[in-house]
Amino acid sequence: MSARTTTTNFYRLDGVHDTLVLQSESARLPRLLYWGRSLPIDTDLHALAVVAQRPVPHGGLDQEEEVSLLPEPGRGFTDSPGLIVRRGEHNVYTQLHITKSTALTHGWDLECVDNVAKIKVVLGIRIEPNTGVISAGTRLTNLGDVNIQVDWLASFTLSVPEFLQYRQSIGGRWSNEFRVTTEPIGSASWVQESRVGRTSHHAFPGLLLTSACVGSEQGEVWSGQLAWSGNHRTLLQRCRLGGLQWQMGELLLPGEVVLAPEEVYVTPQAHLARSNTGLRGLSERWHGFTRAQVLPPSSRKLRRPVQFSTWEATYFDHHPVRLHALADAAAAVGAERFVLDDGWFLGRHDDRAGLGDWVPCPERYPDGLRPLAEYCRGLGMQFGLWVEPESVNANSNLYRAHPEWVLGSPELPQPLGRHQYVLNLGLPAVRAYLFESLDRLLRSAPIHFLKWDMNRDMTHAIGGDGRAGAREHVLGLYALIDQLRLAYPDLQIESCASGGARADLAILRRCDRVWVSDCNDPITRQRIQEGFLLFFPPELMGAHVGDACSHTNGRTTSIALRTLSALFGHMGIEADLLSMPESDLQFLQTALQIYKQHRTWVHQGFVAQVYHPDPHIRSIGAIANDLSKALLSIVATENTSTAVAAPLRMCGLARETMYRVRLHPHWPARPNAGKASSDFHRGACATLSGLALAEHGLQIPILEVGDCLLIELLSDV
Ligand code: DGJ
Repeated sequence: MSARTTTTNFYRLDGVHDTLVLQSESARLPRLLYWGRSLPIDTDLHALAVVAQRPVPHGGLDQEEEVSLLPEPGRGFTDSPGLIVRRGEHNVYTQLHITKSTALTHGWDLECVDNVAKIKVVLGIRIEPNTGVISAGTRLTNLGDVNIQVDWLASFTLSVPEFLQYRQSIGGRWSNEFRVTTEPIGSASWVQESRVGRTSHHAFPGLLLTSACVGSEQGEVWSGQLAWSGNHRTLLQRCRLGGLQWQMGELLLPGEVVLAPEEVYVTPQAHLARSNTGLRGLSERWHGFTRAQVLPPSSRKLRRPVQFSTWEATYFDHHPVRLHALADAAAAVGAERFVLDDGWFLGRHDDRAGLGDWVPCPERYPDGLRPLAEYCRGLGMQFGLWVEPESVNANSNLYRAHPEWVLGSPELPQPLGRHQYVLNLGLPAVRAYLFESLDRLLRSAPIHFLKWDMNRDMTHAIGGDGRAGAREHVLGLYALIDQLRLAYPDLQIESCASGGARADLAILRRCDRVWVSDCNDPITRQRIQEGFLLFFPPELMGAHVGDACSHTNGRTTSIALRTLSALFGHMGIEADLLSMPESDLQFLQTALQIYKQHRTWVHQGFVAQVYHPDPHIRSIGAIANDLSKALLSIVATENTSTAVAAPLRMCGLARETMYRVRLHPHWPARPNAGKASSDFHRGACATLSGLALAEHGLQIPILEVGDCLLIELLSDV
C-alpha cells in the first residue's frame, strides 16, 4: 500500500454553542467532519480527522466513497449523487477541486472548479452564531460553450452519524397538516417529494433525525428545512458500504434548468439546526432563527391583532347587511381586524368562477370595498382581504382574454383542481397584470392585510414554449410579493394554500403569518399545532375559534376548548357570531381579553409541546423569555387511558425560582370530575420551585375527552 500524500484542509464554523468542521483532502469537495457542541478553539482537527478516517473494505472500490457536500459519481461515489448534470446526450462526470476559499465572518464560500467537465460550483455555508443554525446553498455555473441540463443539485449533503436512529418526518393532508411520523431509519433509502408545485400538505420540507431516546428535554436531534415553496426532494439513504447520507434540494422537472454558457443555477437555501437537549432545544433554535433571520423586519415585533375571518361565517354569500352585522359582532367581542374572505369579487358566487378578475363584485360592492373597510375602521378594526392571485377559473374575463397565461399546454387537457388553473407567474406579463390588479385594490380602500391563498396542486407545470415552469412560477411568486411589499411596506401578508400547504422558510421571508390548517376543530388542531410549533414560532400560527360544530370534520366542542386551543397562536375568530349563544359570546370576549393581556410575552417567548406520558393528554406550554411567567394548556383529546392520569412535568422554568401556580379561573377543572379533588384543582394557589415543577410536575385533574384547562405560573418575586 502506498502512503497517502495528501493535503488536508479544514473549514471551521463556530457559533455560541456549536462547532461545525468540514474537511477536504487534496482540495476535493469537503465533507462533514464534525457537527456538535463547541470544540475548544485549539482542538487538533488533524487528530480528529485521523480517528474519523474510515477503512476501505474488500469487495468495493480501492478507495473510500466519500459523502462530500455534493457526492460525485466522477469520484467513484456509487450511492445517490449530489449532482446530476448532462451536456447534450452526455452524462457529465465531475471531479471538482476547491480553487478558492473565502473566509467570511460566520462562514465560508468554497469555489470548486472542474476544467474538464467545465463546471463551477460555489458552496456557501454559514452559521448564525446565536442559534447555531447552519445555512447552506450551492451555485452551479456552466463554464463550457454548450448548454448543460441540471437534473439534480442538492442544496447540501451531510453524512449522518449513526447514533441518530429515528426519523421524524412531517406530512399530512388537507385539514390535517403538520402530522409527525416517527420511524426507525431503515436499511435502504427514504425519499420524500413534493411534485405539486407548492410546499405541500403531504411533504413538509423539513426533517428531524433523532437519537433513540429523544424527548422534550433529552436526546440529540439534527434537523433541516429547505427554504423553498415549490417542488422539493429529501433523501435519507443507508450507503451501501455503511453510513448514512442526507440530501435536500429542489426537485427539478425534466429540462427545468438548462444553463447556457456562463449561466448560473442557484439552489434554494437549506437550514440545519441541532440540539443536545431534545426537541425543546431544537425548537428554541428554529424559533430564534426564524424570528431573527427569516421574517421581514417589519414582522418581527408586530402586535398580532385578533382577527375575524368571514369564511366559515358566510362562504360565498356576501350580503352587505350580514357583513355589517358580523363586523358589529366581531368588534363587540374584541376583534381588531376584519378579513373579508373569498366571495367578494366579480362573478364569484361559488368556486367555479371569478378567479383572475380582481375587481369587487358590482352588485354586492357597488361602491367598491372602501365603504365596508371604512365601516370596520369606524368600529376600531383594520380591514383585510382574501386573494388568490396565482389562480384563474376558466369562467373569468382573464382566462377568456389570456388562455395562454396558464401553466399547461392547450393541446393537453389537464385535470382541474377546485375548477381552476394555475397562472404562469414566470411570465412578466402575468406578474405585471397581478401587480396592477392588487395595486388597484390596495389603493381603493384601507387594506392592511392580504390573505394570499393558493388552492391548486400543479400538474402540467409547463409554459407555452413547452418548457417546465414550476421553478419559474415560484420565483415569479417571490418577485411579485416582494414588489408588493416594497410598494406597501405596512401591508401584512398571510401565506395560505388550502390551509397549511405553503409554510416554509422562503415564503416566511415575505409573509407575516401562516394559515396553518382549514381545520378549526380544536381536538385535531392539538397535533397540527404541535407539529407546526416544532419549527415555527407561535405568533405565525393562525389559529381561529370556529363554530361549535367543526365545518371540516363535524365534531362538536365547547367554547372553552375552542378558545384555549387558539390562545397561544395568532388568535382569531372564524364563526357565525350572529348565531353564537350569548354565553359563548361572553366566554369568547373574555378569552380574547386574556389573549390581549398575554400576547406580547407569549409571542416573543417560547411555546412548544409539553409531553405527557398519556398520548391523549396534549399540552402546550408558553414561557416568557425572562422565565418570570408561563401558561400551560392541557387538553384531553380522548378519554385518558387511566382513571387518574400522571402528573404533568413542566420543564424550562428557572429551577431556583418559586412560582405561584393556579388553574386559570376562565379554564378551570370540570367540577365533579371525580369523587374528590384537591384544593389545587378547585382553584387554590400552590407555590412551587421551577425544579419541583420539572422533576415532580403537577397532578392533573380527572379528564374526559374534550376537557381542557389552563394553568398559570407566575414567579413569586
Ligand atoms: C382555502 C383557505 O384555506 C380557506 O381558509 C378559505 O380562504 C378558502 N380557501 C376560500 O376559498
